[in-house]
Amino acid sequence: WLTRAGTEAYLARKLANPECTTGLDAAQARADEAGMPAIAVPETLGQMLTILAKSMRAQRVLEIGTLAGISTHYLACALPADGQIDTIEASPEHAKIAQANFLALDTCPFPTTHVGQALKLLRDPNGVFKDPPGTIEGLPEPGYDLAFVDANKDEYFEYFTECLRLVRKGGVIVFDNAIRNGRIAVPDGTKIDSDCVGLRKMYDWIEKDAGKTVIASAIQTVGDKSWDGFAIVYKL
Ligand code: DHB
Ligand code: MG
Repeated sequence: WLTRAGTEAYLARKLANPECTTGLDAAQARADEAGMPAIAVPETLGQMLTILAKSMRAQRVLEIGTLAGISTHYLACALPADGQIDTIEASPEHAKIAQANFLALDTCPFPTTHVGQALKLLRDPNGVFKDPPGTIEGLPEPGYDLAFVDANKDEYFEYFTECLRLVRKGGVIVFDNAIRNGRIAVPDGTKIDSDCVGLRKMYDWIEKDAGKTVIASAIQTVGDKSWDGFAIVYKL
């Protein structure tokens, strides 16, 4: 029983927040039956997103990479009923399963799923992501409070740039899969895997920024999947 998967299952069981997690097994089963890849966030990361969003009193969340909507649901659970969650999914098939999951889970606030290539949608000069969402009373400036990035690893730097534009000052961006079995840290001059190029660009950017625009951290995780982790970026 001394296994990463066993420990992950133990923590998921012990720490479940029924108000949010009830029905998530069925939601995952729906994804599995549809043949979707088994790469949803584990319960522990999902619940960390809930805690993060709740603790910053987030009202508006942007997600890049919906998949079956599991992380979307964890994020929505943290928002007030009149909150807003926009999630972007490239695959219409995945978006359909996510939509079924939101309906079955009664996800509230109900997420708006934007189907299409994230960068195309985010950069559309006439699209909904043209400007950060409008000012909320009591908050200093417009923008999303929180963004969660869990999509095409090749485009992480471009997502980083768009999220910096759309997230308000004092907002946070979380990147799933920010470690990639340590392949982000190969020495300069070594061949860099394509899924790490964007992350390396992001880490390089943050290094150069030297605390002027963002404060960032990255945490390595051992789950039931491979060695990976997440990065967290605070916009100053
Ligand atoms: C992969 C993608 C993910 O978002 C993840 O959390 C794990 C693996 C992948 O594409 O391999
Ligand atoms: Mg992921």
